[in-house]
Amino acid sequence: MKLIIVNGPNLNLLGEREPEIYGRESLEQINTWIRNHELCKDLVIDFFQSNSEGEIIDFLHSKRNIVDYCVLNAGALTHYSYALRDAIVSSQIPTVEVHLSNIYKRENFRKNSVIKNVCMEQFYGEGKQSYINGIKHILEKK
Ligand code: DQA
Repeated sequence: MKLIIVNGPNLNLLGEREPEIYGRESLEQINTWIRNHELCKDLVIDFFQSNSEGEIIDFLHSKRNIVDYCVLNAGALTHYSYALRDAIVSSQIPTVEVHLSNIYKRENFRKNSVIKNVCMEQFYGEGKQSYINGIKHILEKK
């Protein structure tokens, strides 16, 4: 099974960025941890991060008909990007939404996800484990 794990704006600064919320591990460390997780041993995973909405949309387009699933932490794009929402639908890549933090226990604007309804499921609030919960969900669905 081919999977893409996509991280949006500011997630390249994990480890430095608000560590009390997002933890002290870098995105590279988290990606390596996911790559080596036993749940992922039979998966072909392509990791992608961008701070640009357009680059993320282009990446999803480029992976249509190529990958089976996407695990997406869209960062703040989650809360306002209808373009990203449309890209998830247009690319027809079944996508699971994930967040490190509990978006329901923070500022009000984070409680709304404009991508939630076009995603298979939403996982949040468990740090890097949220990504694995997303992958587990995909493996149980397939
Ligand atoms: C986030 C939550 C978003 O509200 C925020 O903008 C992020 C990270 C998370 O992983 O908890 O950049 O998606």
